[in-house]
Amino acid sequence: MNPADIASWISDAQKAFSAANDLETLKVARLAHTGDKAPISLASRALGSLAPDEKASVGKLIGDAKAEIAKALAVATEKLEAERDAKVLLEEVVDITLPVSRRHRGGLHPITIIKNEISDFFIEQGYAVEEGPELESGWLNFDALNIPADHPARTMQDTFFIEPIESGVVLRTQTSPVQIRSMLTQEPPIYMICPGRTFRADELDATHSPVFHQVEGLVIDKGITMAHLKGTLDNFARHMFGPDVVTRLRPSFFPFTEPSAEVDIFFNGRWIEWGGCGMVNPRVLTTCGIDTDIYTGFAFGMGLERTLMVRHGITDMHDIVEGDLRFTRQFGVGL
Ligand code: DAH
Repeated sequence: MNPADIASWISDAQKAFSAANDLETLKVARLAHTGDKAPISLASRALGSLAPDEKASVGKLIGDAKAEIAKALAVATEKLEAERDAKVLLEEVVDITLPVSRRHRGGLHPITIIKNEISDFFIEQGYAVEEGPELESGWLNFDALNIPADHPARTMQDTFFIEPIESGVVLRTQTSPVQIRSMLTQEPPIYMICPGRTFRADELDATHSPVFHQVEGLVIDKGITMAHLKGTLDNFARHMFGPDVVTRLRPSFFPFTEPSAEVDIFFNGRWIEWGGCGMVNPRVLTTCGIDTDIYTGFAFGMGLERTLMVRHGITDMHDIVEGDLRFTRQFGVGL
């Protein structure tokens, strides 16, 4: 354990550390030159067996040597870590000019988007959004709405009847039976809309579909007049078609409203029929147990496909029904 030996341990360690060209090799060198079995560690442990005067001088030599070796290790570690970091940065470089992989996320169908849009608009005003069954009793779909047995809507051509015919169950031809359900189960005031699926025995063509959607609106309260109906439709139309749209009511007939009207909109330079509306027929109110001396109400109903087609200039119903992503994607994801 002479000073020359100690000096050679230092230089061996320094050489080994500076020869290491990566952190793995440096780790092996570190264990060899500073680990339990390294000459300097063995010498350090052997100090105890030396005579006291020798112990002090050799102890100092060994302590200094350890410090030298530690310094060489720190220098090599710092250098190799810096090299590794620089390499990682280079290897993980992202080329932001590369083309992206065009994987499309799912999205909502435009009918669902418009349904949500309408629901949000009415919810903001305190309306409830109701649902009713698509398989509906004929009594609710027709009779309670004052649609007589010989009404053309009830004939085989228009209505899907569910077997056995005696069950009286139909695929609802309109969302209007949900009005009746609300009036039968709730006390006025009633403010509700019902967007939903409806069915009629039509061929699928450019303007018809056997499965389509409507939104029904119903308000029953004290002192409700046609002015409230007009104001509500005006706001609704502006929400759907933009601030410049104009509405007009054209006298019409529905068995469940009296008086009844068609609501037209002036949009893109022409008048377009949008839906039906009117003051709820007192006969309907009476059927539902609502006191016509106290309450009046209005109702309206329009087609969602029609609303979409008018608003977006869609000319073929097939586009809405077929679910081709190239069509639906144009309406955005709408989540
Ligand atoms: N249910 C009617 C239809 O399918 C639309 C309608 C018209 C609904 C007038 C109403 C209304 O609530 O008041 O043609």
